[in-house]
Amino acid sequence: IHPTAVRRPHAITVQSENTLYSDEHITAKFFNRGSEVTVTDGHFSVKPTVQEYEFQTKRAVSKTGLMMIGIGGNNGTTLCATILANRHNIIWHTKEGIQQPNYIGSVLRASTVRIGTEPGSGKEVHVPVSDILPMVHPNDLVLGGWDISGVPLEKAMKRSKVLDYDLQRQVAPHMALLGKPLPSIYYPDFIAANQEARADNLIPGEDKQAHLEHIRADIRKFKQENDLDRVVVFWTANTERYSDIIPGVNDTADNLLAAIKASHSEVSPSTLFAVAAILEGEPFVNGAPQNTFVPGAIELAEKHQSFIGGDDLKSGQTKLKSVLAEFLVNAGIKPLSIASYNHLGNNDGHNLSAERQFKSKEISKSSVVDDMVDANRLLYKAPAVGPKGVPVGKGEHPDHIVVIKYVPAVGDSKRAIDEYYSEIFCGGRSTINIFNECEDSLLATPLILDLTILTELLTRVKYRKVGAGQDFAPLYAVLSLLSYMLKAPLVKPGTEVVNSLNRQRNALESFLKACIGLEGNSDLLLETRIW
Ligand code: NAI
Repeated sequence: IHPTAVRRPHAITVQSENTLYSDEHITAKFFNRGSEVTVTDGHFSVKPTVQEYEFQTKRAVSKTGLMMIGIGGNNGTTLCATILANRHNIIWHTKEGIQQPNYIGSVLRASTVRIGTEPGSGKEVHVPVSDILPMVHPNDLVLGGWDISGVPLEKAMKRSKVLDYDLQRQVAPHMALLGKPLPSIYYPDFIAANQEARADNLIPGEDKQAHLEHIRADIRKFKQENDLDRVVVFWTANTERYSDIIPGVNDTADNLLAAIKASHSEVSPSTLFAVAAILEGEPFVNGAPQNTFVPGAIELAEKHQSFIGGDDLKSGQTKLKSVLAEFLVNAGIKPLSIASYNHLGNNDGHNLSAERQFKSKEISKSSVVDDMVDANRLLYKAPAVGPKGVPVGKGEHPDHIVVIKYVPAVGDSKRAIDEYYSEIFCGGRSTINIFNECEDSLLATPLILDLTILTELLTRVKYRKVGAGQDFAPLYAVLSLLSYMLKAPLVKPGTEVVNSLNRQRNALESFLKACIGLEGNSDLLLETRIW
């Protein structure tokens, strides 16, 4: 069950004076090119800029554990069972025939990156994303976690009704070895009342400080018992309601720690888990939409230089929307309204049928077109400018609604119906309707893997500004490079959120390439356009 630490050989070596390989590190120079724009009376004055950086990546991947909060749910059990199926090469029968385990749906394991062209033929060469830098293999993750439901994992997998019977049958003995989820914290006010019946595996008491210490001890014990270098703590439990942001309670790191000590009612379970991971120096990723990262939690992560990432897995409808809305707006077409309807019948859907939990999801699904709209003021009027030059409101925006309904019969097979109603040339109208049916947990599980593996990698990358006399330092605490897999990406406070899926992927690709000294993704392909 517990694999040993791995150091995989490199698939790629870059031969350049900008890339150095030592036993311990890959160090690469990177020229960050940008431009500064000054706007005066409608005129844009642009000054190209360049800053030299070095990235240093530790070559040995950490022996990594993944501790999921909500391990007994659909995502948690599907993730455990599919990793075990891959690890033990379990093949199973479906009505279509024999099925092999795989990692389809994982950007890291099932997609490729263009790294250059073959000399002579000019043929493009693509490699798996996971070959660019040393990364943990999903089969090597050590699995564990918490759930308020104490059902053993092989039974919880059955309850989830996601995987084929023949796979469940064969993987069950392996799942049984993972045992029962660790007891968790349950504050009924934060998730839907309809979840109460499964809350039978709880850390006793009401003292939030004691709960925090319990969770921290769980993380330490798991790390020690499995001889791990790194534990990624991952929230894939039910969607909580939003926490109110209250000055003096959760607005600063110190206030948040004091609020936990005082067992303040507005500290949610997910925030408590995040604080536990931050204080243990282990990364925390939030796969659900609630505002786990209250300002005090972000400040705490900054103070401890612990890594955090979120929010909410971007599996189906939102992923498509971030592509489609960008396509329309970049084509010069003006979406007037986007109406999204979902229905699903799994436990997530049951939880989301409660108003306050739905609200969290609605917020996380709603901002996905904002940056595309803001980037095109030819189509959408900019906000009016107030007395001190400050914009008033958000400016023109398409109508955007999100509806989610619980329909038990469809189980984990979520249906998403989207209508894009747009203005086209000279007053014309275009309507695009999309019906998207997807097995929710089979889309979400590879995202959890990608997020975990990328997060582990990003803990091994350091950077320094060349010429500033700086030592290598870790990346900023909020890992916005994870945005591709997240619906409402958490970014450094004060910086803009990029929702465009293409830009998110380019950022990730460019970063991974920069770490080995390769220029970003150039689609210029100049050599194909000149004599
Ligand atoms: P699920 O309802 O099957 O699993 C959630 C699990 O969390 C349950 O086993 C529940 O007992 C447990 N839980 C609730 N509160 C807990 C706590 N305080 N501590 C420990 N365990 C707790 O839901 P599913 O489908 O696995 O989704 C998980 C989360 O991921 C949800 O918040 C969902 O909105 C989010 N998500 C799922 C996507 C998908 O496609 N499946 C996509 C995007 C987000």
